[in-house]
Order: sequence, then C-alpha cells, then structure tokens
Amino acid sequence: MQTIIEPFKIKSVEPIYFTTREERIRILQEAHYNPFLIHARNVIIDLLTDSGTSAMSSEQWAGVMRGDESYAGSESFFRFESTVRNITGMPYIIPTHQGRAAEKILFSITGGRGKYFVSNTLFDTTRANIEFSGAEGVDLLCAEGKQPALVAPFKGNMDVAALEQFIREKGAEHIPMVIITVTNNSGGGQPVSMENVRAVRAVCDRYGIRLFIDACRFAENCYFIRKREPGYADKPVLAIAQELFSYADGCTMSAKKDAFANIGGFLAMRDEQLAMECRNLLIITEGFPTYGGLAGRDLEAIAIGLEEVLHEDYLQYRIRSVEYIGEKLDAAGVPYIKPAGGHAIYLDAKAFLPHIPVHEYPGQALCGALYAEGGVRGVEIGSVMFGKYAADGSLVPAQMELVRLAIPRRVYTQSHIDYVAEVIVEVFRQRDRIKGYKIVYETPLLRHFTAQFEPV
Ligand code: F0G
Repeated sequence: MQTIIEPFKIKSVEPIYFTTREERIRILQEAHYNPFLIHARNVIIDLLTDSGTSAMSSEQWAGVMRGDESYAGSESFFRFESTVRNITGMPYIIPTHQGRAAEKILFSITGGRGKYFVSNTLFDTTRANIEFSGAEGVDLLCAEGKQPALVAPFKGNMDVAALEQFIREKGAEHIPMVIITVTNNSGGGQPVSMENVRAVRAVCDRYGIRLFIDACRFAENCYFIRKREPGYADKPVLAIAQELFSYADGCTMSAKKDAFANIGGFLAMRDEQLAMECRNLLIITEGFPTYGGLAGRDLEAIAIGLEEVLHEDYLQYRIRSVEYIGEKLDAAGVPYIKPAGGHAIYLDAKAFLPHIPVHEYPGQALCGALYAEGGVRGVEIGSVMFGKYAADGSLVPAQMELVRLAIPRRVYTQSHIDYVAEVIVEVFRQRDRIKGYKIVYETPLLRHFTAQFEPV
C-alpha cells in the first residue's frame, strides 16, 4: 500500500475550540502579538513546541497506574534505568525533572570561567546553562547546515575541521566537552550522520576531550540514518541508537520529546566519578537518585515511551508526516529550511516576507499572520529570540529569521496537517499585505517569552 497511515487508533480525545478570523485578530491584539501570551484554548492547531505535548499510549497510561511511588529504590526506577541502559549502553543513569535540569547539573560540575563547550548547535537552554556556569558555548555547524534552501542529507553535522582547529587554538585543557545535538533543533531539526559522530569521536580521542550527546530527538535522528546513510538500511533503529551512543561518554535527555512523556529527563554517563558528583548535586536540587524530581509514574511513562519511539512503523509515520507538509509547501513555492526536519518545519521568514526588514521582525509578523488566518500557533526563531542590541541601540540580527512549526507526537491527524498546509499557503498568497512589528515592551533576558509588539 502507498498510503502511510497513523499507526494508532484514538481512544481518548480532547476538543478543539474554534474561533473566527475576527475573534483571532482581537485575541492576537490582546496578546500583544506574542503567541506565548495567547491562551491555549484559543489556538486551533498548536505547533508552538513538540516538547511535553505528545499523546501518551494506553501502555504508558497503564504504566502511570503501575508507578511505584516509593521514595527510595522504586521498581519504576529500575525499569526506567534498565531501558535507558539498554539503549545507551551507559552504566550510570540519573533521572531529572526535564532536560535543562540535567544540563544544569552537568555544566555546574564541568563548566566554569575560561572553558569552552563546542557543539554542532547548542539549544538555547543548553547554551544558557553553559553560560550561567561562566563558560562559553561555541557552535561549529557544517557549511550545508547554514543554507536554508540547500537539500542535503545531514545538515546537522558538525564541522570536524573547524572543531580540530578550535581545539588547537584554545587548547584541549580549556574544552571539557564536545556536545552533539541530535537532531539539531536550532538548525532546522536536521540530522547528524553516524560518520560525523565517529569523526568527532576520533578528534575527541586525539585530544582527550569528552563527547556528550544532547539526545532529545535521538530516535528521529537514528531513523534518518537508517534512511539516508549507506550501510544502515537493514539495521533496526535500536541497533543504530546503540551504535550512536557507543561513541559518547554521556548524554543529556529531555524525555518530553522522543520519550512521549509530558515531563522528565535524564543524564547518562560512563564515568563513575562524574556520576557521583552529578548525583550529589541531584540530591540538593532535584531529589533522591532513584526519582530525581519525578514521580514513579513519570519514570514508568518514560521507560515505555523510550521503547515505543523505536518502533519502525511509528518513525516512518512521524518523519513522513513532517515531510508531507514540506511537499505541500514545495508545490506552492513557500520557502522553508530544506529538507523538512524530523520534528518541525522551519519557514524561512526572510524569504517569505522580503518586504519586512529584520528590525521589523518578519518571523514574529509571520507567526501573527498564521494565527490570524487559521489559529495555527508557531514560534519565531530569529531576531526576537536571538537578536541583540549594539552599543548605539541598533539591532544586531540573528543569522536567520525562522518560524518553527513543531509537530507534537501522535497528536494531530493527516487532516489537521492538511489544514496547517492550507493556512500557510493562504498566508503566502497574501504575504504582501503582512506588516512588520515593533517591540513596545521587553525584558533583558529571554525576551521572546514576554515581549509585546505592535504592527508598524
Ligand atoms: N536540548 C534540546 C535540543 C531541546 O530541544 C530542548 C528543549 C532541551 C535541550 C531542554 O529540554 O525543555 O526538557 O528542559 N526544547 C523545547 C523546544 C523546549 O521547544 O524545542 P527541556
């Protein structure tokens, strides 16, 4: 059969509340043109994030009932631990309440002033936790990854030559860790090849530097390896994941992504001494090492989710449904980061709205237009999120002006996705009418969450 269907049936549903265009224009104005300030009830299709927004399976809900809530030595912890060990091959597994909690612990111990953490691209909370420790985060993405319209199989790869040059320049003793983010969220949800991970490992070995993986979307990345990298077509995704983790000294994970959990995360590693230090900090900030900021029921849901996410029929449907939006956008000439990512489509707002200059925030304007047209909520990843001000008060823009439409896992059906594509294409047809924004209120840090705008 040609049609790839959703590999699940729907047992429990949540209503979507519909609004009219007029109502949405008012709601958008009341939310000061910031999608983060819109009540979720007023959103028709919510593509703000794929984090914590997955639909759990009936098995996961059964696990929630089975959760062992013992303070110490919970059965649910041991099930969680053995699942993570099986996938990562790492002996020390430390649960945390979400990904950034794992990052906070790891970088509090390994970071500090004068140190550099080098990555393909650090996610913003990862970078923030590195910088909070006093260290610096450095992104060394491959050249293909910086060209939105270029189609290449592994645009999330690290620039290995640049990595080696950076290490020689700064000295290995100042670089505690290299971090590979799979898939590369901030760079368009693009995958990293196994060959690239092996090459980075070889450099790390030469200079005695640890390699960690930011594993939030590891299963999606491994499925891309299976489909796109020679030699992996016949391998089960679990075996590909096991090979991927075999090259790493440790990983951080947000279980809110590829573990289909609404909350949770973990740290996994091979070094006993480092694990001991992380556990000490965990006890102060998160909880006892067999629950680490989570309930036993959450640990069950994560353990089951980590097994389910490796099912081939799920991954085929998942990657295909994002690619499907891409095909519809291609047919209408809508510019987006190509090829479609694993968890999201990233519209290229600069090319979409060439009449809006970067200081009028084309990504934010496009988010507003998508909401007004069809109640679709996305997020700006551009100069609102990453822009800075120069000494003279002028905007130092971000490299790209993007709108991310992240697809929650197992939540929306094909007709929802058809609707999203129709909304985007309609907005594209009327793009000349869209106006830029100016910021009327902002905070000094992470302004995108609370900033207020007005159309210019
Ligand atoms: N690393 C990556 C690559 C992420 O995408 C995220 C979260 C984190 C770490 C932090 O995990 O949210 O559990 O603390 N990304 C979400 C997003 C928020 O919308 O992309 P967390």
